Amino acid sequence: MNKITEKLFGSFDVASVLANPDFKEDSVREVIILSMQLERRNLSGLWRVDYLLIFYYYIVMNTVKIGIIGIGNMGSSHSMNISAGKVPQLELAAAADAIPERKNWAEHNLPSGVKIFSDSRELIHSNICDAVLIATPHYQHPALTMEALSAGLHVLCEKPAGVYTKQVREMNDKAEKSGKVFALMFNQRTNCLYRAMHDIVTGGSMGALKRVSWIITDWYRTQSYYNSGNWRATWAGEGGGVLLNQCPHQLDLLQWICGMPSKIRAFCHNGKWHNIEVEDDVTAYLEYPNGATGTFITSTADAPGTNRFEITLEMGKLVCENNTLTRFLLAENERKFCKTAPGGFDKPECTESVVETDGKNEQHIGVLKAFTRHILYGEPLIAEGKEGILGLTLSNGMHLSSWLDSTVDLPLDEELFLQELNKRRAASRAK
Ligand SMILES: NC(=O)c1ccc[n+]([C@@H]2O[C@H](COP(=O)([O-])OP(=O)(O)OC[C@H]3O[C@@H](n4cnc5c(N)ncnc54)[C@H](O)[C@@H]3O)[C@@H](O)[C@H]2O)c1
Repeated sequence: MNKITEKLFGSFDVASVLANPDFKEDSVREVIILSMQLERRNLSGLWRVDYLLIFYYYIVMNTVKIGIIGIGNMGSSHSMNISAGKVPQLELAAAADAIPERKNWAEHNLPSGVKIFSDSRELIHSNICDAVLIATPHYQHPALTMEALSAGLHVLCEKPAGVYTKQVREMNDKAEKSGKVFALMFNQRTNCLYRAMHDIVTGGSMGALKRVSWIITDWYRTQSYYNSGNWRATWAGEGGGVLLNQCPHQLDLLQWICGMPSKIRAFCHNGKWHNIEVEDDVTAYLEYPNGATGTFITSTADAPGTNRFEITLEMGKLVCENNTLTRFLLAENERKFCKTAPGGFDKPECTESVVETDGKNEQHIGVLKAFTRHILYGEPLIAEGKEGILGLTLSNGMHLSSWLDSTVDLPLDEELFLQELNKRRAASRAK
Protein backbone atom coordinates (compact mmCIF):
# COMPACT_ATOMS: atom_id res chain seq x y z
CA MET A 1 0.00 0.00 0.00
CA ASN A 2 2.74 2.47 0.92
CA LYS A 3 4.36 1.83 -2.43
CA ILE A 4 1.15 2.58 -4.35
CA THR A 5 0.50 5.82 -2.49
CA GLU A 6 4.16 6.78 -2.77
CA LYS A 7 3.84 6.43 -6.51
CA LEU A 8 0.72 8.53 -6.53
CA PHE A 9 1.93 11.25 -4.27
CA GLY A 10 5.66 11.34 -4.90
CA SER A 11 7.27 12.90 -1.85
CA PHE A 12 4.07 12.78 0.19
CA ASP A 13 4.93 10.87 3.36
CA VAL A 14 1.94 8.58 3.93
CA ALA A 15 3.69 6.60 6.65
CA SER A 16 4.11 9.68 8.84
CA VAL A 17 0.45 10.64 8.40
CA LEU A 18 -0.61 7.15 9.46
CA ALA A 19 1.81 7.09 12.38
CA ASN A 20 0.45 10.39 13.70
CA PRO A 21 -1.59 9.60 16.84
CA ASP A 22 -4.02 12.37 15.88
CA PHE A 23 -4.72 10.78 12.51
CA LYS A 24 -8.45 10.29 12.14
CA GLU A 25 -10.64 9.17 9.28
CA ASP A 26 -12.63 12.40 9.76
CA SER A 27 -9.60 14.54 9.06
CA VAL A 28 -8.99 12.72 5.76
CA ARG A 29 -12.59 13.41 4.78
CA GLU A 30 -12.15 17.06 5.70
CA VAL A 31 -8.97 17.33 3.60
CA ILE A 32 -10.78 15.81 0.62
CA ILE A 33 -13.77 18.14 0.91
CA LEU A 34 -11.53 21.16 1.34
CA SER A 35 -9.35 20.16 -1.59
CA MET A 36 -12.41 19.64 -3.79
CA GLN A 37 -13.62 23.12 -2.88
CA LEU A 38 -10.17 24.61 -3.59
CA GLU A 39 -9.91 22.81 -6.90
CA ARG A 40 -13.38 24.01 -7.92
CA ARG A 41 -12.21 27.57 -7.29
CA ASN A 42 -8.94 26.82 -9.10
CA LEU A 43 -6.97 27.66 -5.98
CA SER A 44 -5.08 24.43 -5.66
CA GLY A 45 -2.69 23.05 -8.19
CA LEU A 46 -1.23 20.65 -5.67
CA TRP A 47 -3.96 18.08 -5.19
CA ARG A 48 -6.03 16.33 -7.78
CA VAL A 49 -9.44 15.16 -6.64
CA ASP A 50 -9.10 11.74 -8.28
CA TYR A 51 -5.81 11.14 -6.45
CA LEU A 52 -7.42 12.19 -3.21
CA LEU A 53 -10.30 9.82 -3.76
CA ILE A 54 -7.86 6.97 -4.38
CA PHE A 55 -5.97 8.04 -1.27
CA TYR A 56 -9.26 8.05 0.66
CA TYR A 57 -10.04 4.57 -0.64
CA TYR A 58 -6.70 3.12 0.38
CA ILE A 59 -6.52 4.85 3.74
CA VAL A 60 -10.11 4.71 4.89
CA MET A 61 -12.11 2.25 2.84
CA ASN A 62 -9.61 -0.57 2.48
CA THR A 63 -10.49 -3.36 4.92
CA VAL A 64 -9.21 -6.69 6.13
CA LYS A 65 -11.91 -9.37 6.10
CA ILE A 66 -11.52 -11.68 9.05
CA GLY A 67 -13.06 -15.01 10.01
CA ILE A 68 -13.14 -16.19 13.63
CA ILE A 69 -12.65 -19.88 14.38
CA GLY A 70 -14.13 -20.83 17.76
CA ILE A 71 -17.03 -18.72 19.01
CA GLY A 72 -16.79 -19.60 22.70
CA ASN A 73 -16.03 -17.12 25.50
CA MET A 74 -13.19 -15.34 23.75
CA GLY A 75 -14.21 -15.78 20.11
CA SER A 76 -17.68 -14.35 20.80
CA SER A 77 -16.16 -11.35 22.58
CA HIS A 78 -13.83 -10.72 19.61
CA SER A 79 -16.73 -11.12 17.18
CA MET A 80 -18.85 -8.57 19.09
CA ASN A 81 -15.97 -6.07 19.24
CA ILE A 82 -15.27 -6.36 15.52
CA SER A 83 -18.88 -6.29 14.39
CA ALA A 84 -19.49 -3.25 16.64
CA GLY A 85 -16.88 -1.41 14.52
CA LYS A 86 -14.37 -1.02 17.36
CA VAL A 87 -11.49 -1.93 15.04
CA PRO A 88 -11.33 0.43 12.05
CA GLN A 89 -10.83 -1.31 8.72
CA LEU A 90 -11.37 -4.79 10.17
CA GLU A 91 -14.52 -6.45 8.90
CA LEU A 92 -16.07 -9.60 10.34
CA ALA A 93 -16.73 -11.77 7.28
CA ALA A 94 -17.18 -15.23 8.81
CA ALA A 95 -17.31 -17.27 12.00
CA ALA A 96 -17.08 -21.00 12.69
CA ASP A 97 -17.82 -23.19 15.67
CA ALA A 98 -17.94 -26.95 15.85
CA ILE A 99 -20.69 -26.96 18.50
CA PRO A 100 -24.27 -26.40 17.19
CA GLU A 101 -25.18 -24.28 20.23
CA ARG A 102 -22.35 -21.81 19.54
CA LYS A 103 -23.04 -21.81 15.80
CA ASN A 104 -26.65 -21.02 16.65
CA TRP A 105 -25.52 -18.19 18.91
CA ALA A 106 -23.43 -16.76 16.06
CA GLU A 107 -26.36 -16.98 13.63
CA HIS A 108 -28.60 -15.06 16.01
CA ASN A 109 -26.14 -12.50 17.37
CA LEU A 110 -23.76 -11.57 14.57
CA PRO A 111 -24.68 -9.24 11.66
CA SER A 112 -26.59 -10.95 8.85
CA GLY A 113 -23.72 -10.54 6.35
CA VAL A 114 -21.40 -12.72 8.45
CA LYS A 115 -21.18 -16.23 7.00
CA ILE A 116 -21.42 -18.91 9.68
CA PHE A 117 -19.71 -22.30 9.37
CA SER A 118 -19.67 -25.42 11.54
CA ASP A 119 -16.35 -26.56 10.12
CA SER A 120 -13.18 -24.48 10.45
CA ARG A 121 -11.77 -25.94 7.21
CA GLU A 122 -14.78 -24.72 5.25
CA LEU A 123 -14.22 -21.22 6.64
CA ILE A 124 -10.51 -21.32 5.82
CA HIS A 125 -11.14 -22.43 2.22
CA SER A 126 -14.24 -20.27 1.65
CA ASN A 127 -12.29 -17.51 -0.17
CA ILE A 128 -14.20 -14.84 1.72
CA CYS A 129 -11.53 -14.01 4.31
CA ASP A 130 -8.13 -12.32 4.18
CA ALA A 131 -7.31 -13.43 7.72
CA VAL A 132 -8.46 -15.67 10.57
CA LEU A 133 -8.53 -15.25 14.31
CA ILE A 134 -8.14 -18.62 16.03
CA ALA A 135 -9.93 -18.86 19.40
CA THR A 136 -10.23 -22.61 19.92
CA PRO A 137 -8.72 -24.77 22.69
CA HIS A 138 -4.91 -24.71 22.78
CA TYR A 139 -3.98 -28.01 21.15
CA GLN A 140 -5.63 -26.93 17.91
CA HIS A 141 -3.81 -23.60 17.57
CA PRO A 142 -0.78 -24.84 15.56
CA ALA A 143 -2.73 -27.13 13.18
CA LEU A 144 -5.37 -24.48 12.41
CA THR A 145 -2.70 -21.78 12.05
CA MET A 146 -0.72 -23.90 9.58
CA GLU A 147 -3.81 -24.77 7.57
CA ALA A 148 -4.85 -21.12 7.32
CA LEU A 149 -1.34 -19.97 6.36
CA SER A 150 -1.20 -22.67 3.67
CA ALA A 151 -4.49 -21.35 2.31
CA GLY A 152 -2.89 -17.91 1.96
CA LEU A 153 -4.55 -16.30 4.97
CA HIS A 154 -3.01 -14.06 7.62
CA VAL A 155 -3.37 -15.47 11.15
CA LEU A 156 -3.96 -13.96 14.56
CA CYS A 157 -3.91 -16.79 17.10
CA GLU A 158 -5.10 -16.71 20.71
CA LYS A 159 -2.60 -17.47 23.45
CA PRO A 160 -0.87 -19.80 24.11
CA ALA A 161 0.75 -20.46 20.72
CA GLY A 162 0.27 -24.18 21.38
CA VAL A 163 0.81 -26.74 24.12
CA TYR A 164 4.34 -27.95 23.36
CA THR A 165 7.22 -26.14 21.74
CA LYS A 166 8.00 -28.88 19.20
CA GLN A 167 4.62 -28.29 17.57
CA VAL A 168 4.96 -24.51 17.82
CA ARG A 169 8.39 -24.63 16.18
CA GLU A 170 6.82 -26.34 13.12
CA MET A 171 4.14 -23.64 13.07
CA ASN A 172 6.78 -20.89 13.18
CA ASP A 173 8.70 -22.47 10.28
CA LYS A 174 5.51 -22.67 8.26
CA ALA A 175 4.67 -19.04 9.05
CA GLU A 176 8.11 -17.86 8.00
CA LYS A 177 7.88 -19.63 4.65
CA SER A 178 4.29 -18.53 3.99
CA GLY A 179 5.05 -14.81 3.71
CA LYS A 180 1.76 -14.15 5.52
CA VAL A 181 1.28 -12.20 8.74
CA PHE A 182 1.33 -14.35 11.87
CA ALA A 183 0.54 -12.66 15.19
CA LEU A 184 -0.47 -13.67 18.71
CA MET A 185 -3.14 -12.27 21.01
CA PHE A 186 -0.84 -11.12 23.80
CA ASN A 187 -3.19 -8.30 24.75
CA GLN A 188 -1.45 -7.54 28.06
CA ARG A 189 1.50 -6.13 26.12
CA THR A 190 -0.75 -3.14 25.33
CA ASN A 191 -0.89 -2.20 29.04
CA CYS A 192 1.01 1.10 29.50
CA LEU A 193 2.62 -0.15 32.74
CA TYR A 194 4.13 -3.24 31.13
CA ARG A 195 5.17 -1.22 28.07
CA ALA A 196 6.97 1.21 30.38
CA MET A 197 8.71 -1.68 32.20
CA HIS A 198 9.74 -3.15 28.86
CA ASP A 199 11.18 0.18 27.67
CA ILE A 200 13.07 0.87 30.92
CA VAL A 201 14.56 -2.62 31.30
CA THR A 202 15.43 -3.25 27.66
CA GLY A 203 16.61 0.36 27.22
CA GLY A 204 19.38 -0.39 29.73
CA SER A 205 19.21 2.92 31.67
CA MET A 206 18.89 1.04 34.99
CA GLY A 207 21.69 -1.39 34.27
CA ALA A 208 21.72 -5.17 34.23
CA LEU A 209 19.03 -7.45 35.68
CA LYS A 210 19.77 -8.79 39.18
CA ARG A 211 16.47 -10.29 40.31
CA VAL A 212 12.90 -10.64 39.13
CA SER A 213 9.99 -11.77 41.19
CA TRP A 214 6.40 -12.10 40.04
CA ILE A 215 3.66 -13.20 42.41
CA ILE A 216 0.62 -13.61 40.22
CA THR A 217 -2.01 -15.29 42.33
CA ASP A 218 -5.03 -13.17 41.43
CA TRP A 219 -6.34 -15.68 38.90
CA TYR A 220 -8.97 -17.00 41.32
CA ARG A 221 -11.17 -19.71 39.78
CA THR A 222 -13.91 -21.85 41.35
CA GLN A 223 -14.62 -25.54 40.79
CA SER A 224 -17.61 -24.44 38.71
CA TYR A 225 -15.25 -22.68 36.28
CA TYR A 226 -13.25 -25.88 35.84
CA ASN A 227 -16.44 -27.88 35.30
CA SER A 228 -17.66 -25.46 32.61
CA GLY A 229 -15.82 -26.90 29.59
CA ASN A 230 -14.92 -30.54 28.90
CA TRP A 231 -11.45 -29.58 27.57
CA ARG A 232 -10.56 -27.44 30.57
CA ALA A 233 -7.96 -28.47 33.12
CA THR A 234 -7.10 -31.82 31.54
CA TRP A 235 -3.81 -33.02 30.07
CA ALA A 236 -5.61 -34.33 27.00
CA GLY A 237 -7.87 -31.32 26.45
CA GLU A 238 -5.85 -28.32 27.59
CA GLY A 239 -2.32 -29.60 28.14
CA GLY A 240 -1.89 -27.96 31.54
CA GLY A 241 -3.53 -25.81 34.17
CA VAL A 242 -2.77 -22.31 35.41
CA LEU A 243 0.51 -22.20 33.42
CA LEU A 244 -1.24 -22.94 30.13
CA ASN A 245 -4.53 -21.18 30.59
CA GLN A 246 -4.12 -18.12 32.81
CA CYS A 247 -0.35 -17.43 32.83
CA PRO A 248 0.65 -17.33 29.15
CA HIS A 249 0.24 -13.54 29.39
CA GLN A 250 2.59 -13.18 32.38
CA LEU A 251 5.11 -15.68 31.00
CA ASP A 252 5.16 -13.75 27.74
CA LEU A 253 5.61 -10.43 29.59
CA LEU A 254 8.33 -11.96 31.75
CA GLN A 255 10.39 -12.99 28.72
CA TRP A 256 9.50 -9.80 26.79
CA ILE A 257 10.76 -7.59 29.62
CA CYS A 258 13.52 -9.66 31.28
CA GLY A 259 14.65 -12.00 28.48
CA MET A 260 14.92 -15.80 28.71
CA PRO A 261 16.46 -17.65 31.66
CA SER A 262 18.93 -20.46 31.11
CA LYS A 263 17.75 -22.75 33.97
CA ILE A 264 14.38 -23.52 35.54
CA ARG A 265 13.48 -25.37 38.73
CA ALA A 266 9.77 -25.57 39.47
CA PHE A 267 7.25 -27.20 41.76
CA CYS A 268 3.81 -27.64 40.18
CA HIS A 269 1.02 -29.00 42.39
CA ASN A 270 -1.70 -30.79 40.46
CA GLY A 271 -5.27 -30.41 41.72
CA LYS A 272 -4.07 -29.01 45.04
CA TRP A 273 -7.11 -26.74 45.50
CA HIS A 274 -9.58 -28.01 42.88
CA ASN A 275 -10.77 -31.35 41.62
CA ILE A 276 -8.62 -31.21 38.46
CA GLU A 277 -5.75 -33.32 37.12
CA VAL A 278 -3.47 -30.40 36.14
CA GLU A 279 -1.58 -27.79 38.19
CA ASP A 280 -3.37 -25.04 40.11
CA ASP A 281 -0.38 -23.97 42.26
CA VAL A 282 3.18 -23.28 41.01
CA THR A 283 6.43 -21.97 42.47
CA ALA A 284 9.30 -21.63 40.01
CA TYR A 285 12.93 -20.52 40.39
CA LEU A 286 14.76 -19.12 37.35
CA GLU A 287 18.42 -18.46 36.57
CA TYR A 288 19.48 -16.04 33.83
CA PRO A 289 22.63 -16.22 31.69
CA ASN A 290 24.14 -13.18 33.52
CA GLY A 291 23.61 -14.79 36.94
CA ALA A 292 20.39 -12.93 37.76
CA THR A 293 17.72 -15.01 39.47
CA GLY A 294 13.95 -15.00 39.50
CA THR A 295 10.84 -16.46 41.08
CA PHE A 296 7.43 -16.93 39.54
CA ILE A 297 4.55 -17.88 41.82
CA THR A 298 1.02 -18.50 40.64
CA SER A 299 -2.21 -20.09 41.81
CA THR A 300 -5.93 -20.07 41.01
CA ALA A 301 -6.95 -20.49 44.64
CA ASP A 302 -5.59 -17.50 46.56
CA ALA A 303 -8.32 -15.16 47.74
CA PRO A 304 -7.54 -12.35 47.81
CA GLY A 305 -4.73 -12.91 45.33
CA THR A 306 -1.67 -10.77 44.61
CA ASN A 307 -0.23 -9.36 41.41
CA ARG A 308 3.20 -7.93 42.22
CA PHE A 309 5.87 -7.80 39.54
CA GLU A 310 9.20 -6.60 40.90
CA ILE A 311 12.43 -6.23 38.95
CA THR A 312 15.72 -5.36 40.66
CA LEU A 313 18.42 -3.89 38.45
CA GLU A 314 21.88 -2.46 39.14
CA MET A 315 20.42 1.07 39.37
CA GLY A 316 17.44 0.26 41.60
CA LYS A 317 14.11 -1.43 41.20
CA LEU A 318 10.74 -1.33 39.46
CA VAL A 319 7.58 -2.46 41.24
CA CYS A 320 4.31 -2.92 39.40
CA GLU A 321 1.40 -3.47 41.76
CA ASN A 322 -2.14 -2.13 42.16
CA ASN A 323 -2.08 -0.56 38.70
CA THR A 324 0.90 1.62 39.60
CA LEU A 325 4.50 1.37 38.44
CA THR A 326 6.99 2.69 40.99
CA ARG A 327 10.64 3.31 40.21
CA PHE A 328 13.29 3.27 42.96
CA LEU A 329 16.31 4.92 41.35
CA LEU A 330 19.77 4.78 42.96
CA ALA A 331 22.20 7.69 42.76
CA GLU A 332 24.86 5.28 41.55
CA ASN A 333 25.20 1.71 40.32
CA GLU A 334 24.85 -0.66 43.30
CA ARG A 335 27.67 -2.91 42.03
CA LYS A 336 30.09 0.02 42.06
CA PHE A 337 28.71 1.37 45.37
CA CYS A 338 29.15 -2.01 47.10
CA LYS A 339 32.83 -2.13 46.16
CA THR A 340 33.67 1.51 47.00
CA ALA A 341 31.46 2.65 49.95
CA PRO A 342 33.57 3.23 53.11
CA GLY A 343 31.01 2.16 55.77
CA GLY A 344 29.86 -1.44 56.20
CA PHE A 345 26.22 -0.38 56.61
CA ASP A 346 26.18 2.41 53.98
CA LYS A 347 23.31 2.30 51.51
CA PRO A 348 23.09 3.94 48.09
CA GLU A 349 20.95 7.06 47.92
CA CYS A 350 17.58 6.26 46.40
CA THR A 351 14.67 8.31 45.04
CA GLU A 352 11.20 6.85 44.67
CA SER A 353 8.76 8.04 42.00
CA VAL A 354 5.66 6.87 40.16
CA VAL A 355 6.50 6.24 36.52
CA GLU A 356 4.39 8.39 34.22
CA THR A 357 2.99 6.58 31.20
CA ASP A 358 0.75 7.44 28.27
CA GLY A 359 -2.12 5.79 30.21
CA LYS A 360 -3.18 3.68 27.22
CA ASN A 361 -4.34 0.10 27.71
CA GLU A 362 -6.26 -1.05 24.66
CA GLN A 363 -6.03 -4.80 25.33
CA HIS A 364 -7.69 -7.04 22.68
CA ILE A 365 -8.85 -4.10 20.56
CA GLY A 366 -5.27 -2.78 20.50
CA VAL A 367 -3.94 -6.14 19.24
CA LEU A 368 -6.67 -6.31 16.58
CA LYS A 369 -5.94 -2.74 15.46
CA ALA A 370 -2.21 -3.42 15.18
CA PHE A 371 -2.84 -6.68 13.28
CA THR A 372 -5.10 -4.87 10.79
CA ARG A 373 -2.71 -1.94 10.31
CA HIS A 374 0.23 -4.32 9.93
CA ILE A 375 -1.54 -6.07 7.05
CA LEU A 376 -2.64 -2.79 5.43
CA TYR A 377 0.28 -0.48 6.15
CA GLY A 378 3.14 -2.55 7.54
CA GLU A 379 2.92 -0.98 11.01
CA PRO A 380 4.36 -3.00 13.95
CA LEU A 381 2.43 -5.87 15.52
CA ILE A 382 1.90 -6.04 19.29
CA ALA A 383 3.31 -9.58 19.36
CA GLU A 384 4.77 -11.47 16.43
CA GLY A 385 3.60 -15.07 16.19
CA LYS A 386 7.13 -16.46 16.33
CA GLU A 387 7.58 -14.96 19.83
CA GLY A 388 4.87 -17.26 21.24
CA ILE A 389 7.39 -20.07 21.59
CA LEU A 390 9.34 -18.15 24.25
CA GLY A 391 6.63 -17.90 26.91
CA LEU A 392 5.61 -21.48 26.08
CA THR A 393 9.21 -22.60 26.65
CA LEU A 394 8.94 -21.16 30.17
CA SER A 395 5.76 -23.08 30.97
CA ASN A 396 7.02 -26.30 29.30
CA GLY A 397 10.26 -25.91 31.28
CA MET A 398 8.34 -25.44 34.56
CA HIS A 399 6.22 -28.53 33.89
CA LEU A 400 9.22 -30.65 32.89
CA SER A 401 11.26 -29.60 35.92
CA SER A 402 8.40 -30.52 38.21
CA TRP A 403 7.76 -33.84 36.46
CA LEU A 404 11.45 -34.82 36.56
CA ASP A 405 11.96 -33.31 40.03
CA SER A 406 15.14 -31.65 38.80
CA THR A 407 16.55 -28.47 37.26
CA VAL A 408 15.92 -28.07 33.53
CA ASP A 409 18.40 -26.31 31.22
CA LEU A 410 17.26 -24.19 28.30
CA PRO A 411 17.10 -24.73 25.34
CA LEU A 412 14.54 -27.28 26.41
CA ASP A 413 14.72 -30.96 25.50
CA GLU A 414 11.55 -30.74 23.40
CA GLU A 415 11.36 -34.49 22.66
CA LEU A 416 11.58 -35.37 26.35
CA PHE A 417 8.91 -32.80 27.19
CA LEU A 418 6.57 -34.29 24.57
CA GLN A 419 7.19 -37.85 25.80
CA GLU A 420 6.36 -36.80 29.37
CA LEU A 421 3.30 -34.83 28.26
CA ASN A 422 2.05 -37.77 26.20
CA LYS A 423 2.25 -40.07 29.24
CA ARG A 424 -0.09 -37.69 31.03
CA ARG A 425 -2.36 -37.31 28.00
CA ALA A 426 -2.69 -41.09 27.77
CA ALA A 427 -3.74 -41.30 31.43
CA SER A 428 -5.91 -38.18 31.27
CA ARG A 429 -9.32 -38.75 32.80
CA ALA A 430 -12.28 -38.47 30.47
CA LYS A 431 -14.64 -35.67 31.39
N1 LIG B 1 -6.44 -13.32 25.30
C1 LIG B 1 -7.26 -13.50 26.30
O1 LIG B 1 -7.45 -12.59 27.12
C2 LIG B 1 -7.97 -14.81 26.47
C3 LIG B 1 -8.96 -14.96 27.46
C4 LIG B 1 -9.62 -16.19 27.54
C5 LIG B 1 -9.29 -17.22 26.69
N2 LIG B 1 -8.31 -17.05 25.76
C6 LIG B 1 -7.91 -18.13 24.85
O2 LIG B 1 -8.92 -18.29 23.86
C7 LIG B 1 -8.98 -19.66 23.48
C8 LIG B 1 -10.42 -20.14 23.65
O3 LIG B 1 -10.78 -20.04 25.01
P1 LIG B 1 -12.30 -19.88 25.44
O4 LIG B 1 -12.31 -19.54 26.88
O5 LIG B 1 -13.02 -18.98 24.49
O6 LIG B 1 -12.80 -21.39 25.24
P2 LIG B 1 -14.27 -21.90 24.94
O7 LIG B 1 -14.31 -23.35 25.28
O8 LIG B 1 -15.27 -21.00 25.59
O9 LIG B 1 -14.41 -21.71 23.35
C9 LIG B 1 -13.72 -22.49 22.41
C10 LIG B 1 -14.69 -22.70 21.25
O10 LIG B 1 -13.96 -23.28 20.17
C11 LIG B 1 -14.85 -24.18 19.50
N3 LIG B 1 -14.06 -25.10 18.71
C12 LIG B 1 -13.20 -26.06 19.13
N4 LIG B 1 -12.62 -26.65 18.08
C13 LIG B 1 -13.08 -26.05 16.98
C14 LIG B 1 -12.83 -26.20 15.59
N5 LIG B 1 -11.94 -27.08 15.13
N6 LIG B 1 -13.51 -25.40 14.74
C15 LIG B 1 -14.39 -24.51 15.17
N7 LIG B 1 -14.67 -24.32 16.48
C16 LIG B 1 -14.02 -25.07 17.37
C17 LIG B 1 -15.60 -24.84 20.65
O11 LIG B 1 -16.81 -25.43 20.19
C18 LIG B 1 -15.82 -23.65 21.58
O12 LIG B 1 -17.08 -23.01 21.34
C19 LIG B 1 -7.99 -20.41 24.36
O13 LIG B 1 -6.78 -20.55 23.66
C20 LIG B 1 -7.78 -19.47 25.53
O14 LIG B 1 -6.53 -19.61 26.14
C21 LIG B 1 -7.67 -15.86 25.63
